[in-house]
Amino acid sequence: MAFFKRQHTPQVDMEHLPRHVAIIMDGNGRWAKRRGLPRTAGHASGAETFRRIATYAKNIGLDYLTVYAFSTENWKRPREEVEAIMKLLEKYLCEAVESMARDRIKMAFFGDLSPLSPRLQALCRETEEISKGYEGFQANICLNYGGRDEIVRAARAYAADCLEGRADPNHLTEADFGAYMFSRGVPDPDLVIRPSGEVRISNFLLWQSAYAEFYFTDVLWPDFSEKELLKAIADYQHRSRRYGGV
Ligand code: FPP
Repeated sequence: MAFFKRQHTPQVDMEHLPRHVAIIMDGNGRWAKRRGLPRTAGHASGAETFRRIATYAKNIGLDYLTVYAFSTENWKRPREEVEAIMKLLEKYLCEAVESMARDRIKMAFFGDLSPLSPRLQALCRETEEISKGYEGFQANICLNYGGRDEIVRAARAYAADCLEGRADPNHLTEADFGAYMFSRGVPDPDLVIRPSGEVRISNFLLWQSAYAEFYFTDVLWPDFSEKELLKAIADYQHRSRRYGGV
């Protein structure tokens, strides 16, 4: 008797997708190590996974995908690894500039871009500029991003507005303060996914993920497939979101 491994497709209600999915793209280093490859090969493979998942996210009808590409803490990594990630981002954005007219994926960047190379900064600005002409799906890339750093920057900018008389601290609302974040104008993530088996938030979207659902999987980011995304969404669709109510 023959046994066939059944390809189980997660049951997803395509009419009720999360609007905004955020992903901590973790596990590139371990993926490479398991193959006897340098860590940078893991990041290269991770960049391809991002390309694939962003295209799929757009095709199934998500509105926003936000990914953690480089944190404010990632500068502590060996110089060669930081340079390799920056080169990959440059390569990715150069290719994106070429393919955006076809793919129509809007791009935005969350984070302080000023320490990045002038070329990378210019590419970020160029892709954001091109994006202004597009409607629909948006990919947000967190670059030199840290959740605490973002909140501190927002507090500084808000304090400056108070001192200048442009804001009144007695009337500050959460929505007002949210408008000082890098994510201004983008709805909060509904679902935050962390692959690679780590179960922590690592300074990602601290303000925005207050009511997000979290999904953790052991799959390493370079192996993260379209089916893995559907599994995460199917799991999300079984959650009961109460936002503090009953
Ligand atoms: C975390 O894995 C990954 C990073 C810090 C870098 C992510 C960067 C990319 C995927 C490439 C460029 C991105 C885009 C959007 C084109 P890790 O190195 O911490 O893995 P480990 O925990 O297994 O060591």
